This record gives sequence, C-alpha cells and structure tokens, in this order.
Amino acid sequence: MNPLTPIAPASDKPDLYTQINQQLAALLKGESDLIANTANAAALLYQFLPDVNWVGFYFSKGDELVLGPFQGKPACSRINMGKGVCGTAAAKQQTLIVPDVTRFDGHIVCDAASRSEIVVPLLNWGRLVGVLDVDSPTPNRFDDDDAEGLEVIAAVLLSLLPTDHMPDLTDEPAVTP
Ligand code: SME
Repeated sequence: MNPLTPIAPASDKPDLYTQINQQLAALLKGESDLIANTANAAALLYQFLPDVNWVGFYFSKGDELVLGPFQGKPACSRINMGKGVCGTAAAKQQTLIVPDVTRFDGHIVCDAASRSEIVVPLLNWGRLVGVLDVDSPTPNRFDDDDAEGLEVIAAVLLSLLPTDHMPDLTDEPAVTP
C-alpha cells in the first residue's frame, strides 16, 4: 500500500494536477482492476482538489451510465445516455464544463449544494467506458486547466486496463476525426 504523501502548496492548477498525477501513478502501480483504481482516484481527487463536494465515476452499461466509486453524498444510481451533464458528456464523448448547473437544461441534482460541474468521458480506443464527474459548491469553479488535468487522470486509468478489456476493433470501420 502506498501511503499518501502531503501535497505541497501548488503554484497553480497545472502544478496541482501534476502532483496529483504523480501520487496517482504511485497509488495505482501494478493494479489493473478498474473498480479499485477508480475508487482510489476518486478518493485522491476528493482529498486534494480544493472546493469540490463530489468526485466519482459512472460506467457505461447499455444505454445507461451506472454509478461507480465516488466520494461525496449518495448520488443517483443510473443516468440515461444523453441526460444530465454526465449523460450529455457521455453521448457527445466530450469533456463538458458547466459553470452554473442551474442554467443547464436537464441537470440532475444529486447534491443540492453543487453549483458547477465538470464531466470527462473515459474513452478506450473510442469506446465509452464511463465518465469522471466532479462537482463544486462554487459557481464557475472549473476551467480548461481542470479539463486538461482530469483528462490526464482519465488517460492514466484507461492505460491500466488489462488487454482483455480492449475492444475488438477488427470489425469496426476506421474512426474518422
Ligand atoms: N449532476 C449530474 C448527476 C450526477 S451528480 O452530480 C453526482 C448530471 O447532471 O449528470
């Protein structure tokens, strides 16, 4: 077990995410189980990201997202693809930053304290595995630095998937950009 080391005061957000990613790499080393790794990633982010009230994962199952490991208040177990911030980011396969959740049509309230939100899709060779969702009680909490930092975390988590989790792309048409 890798003990958490305290994170030094970060000079800026990219620096903070670099430090979090270093801790994550140490924490996940040698482990390929997606539930274990996303559980530790949620705990690490919840502990070290300032001003957040919910951090967690939803996994893609059929046309739904199903709740995975998280930190924060209990949340809705299932979200239809295309619904809410999570379902929209999943359907578009794009990171979504919502500065004010009260102005997002169809926002799904899990913690009434949430005011802004960022959702990063987990894409394994173009296939949706799930999403990483982070909520804040402060409006406009998330920016491009958060998107970049969280996308790196998503990429690290996906890179640890065992090869039998890789989609068979042999019968798939080439993905066009
Ligand atoms: N607000 C999200 C639902 C998940 S919770 O925030 C944990 C949404 O609109 O998809």
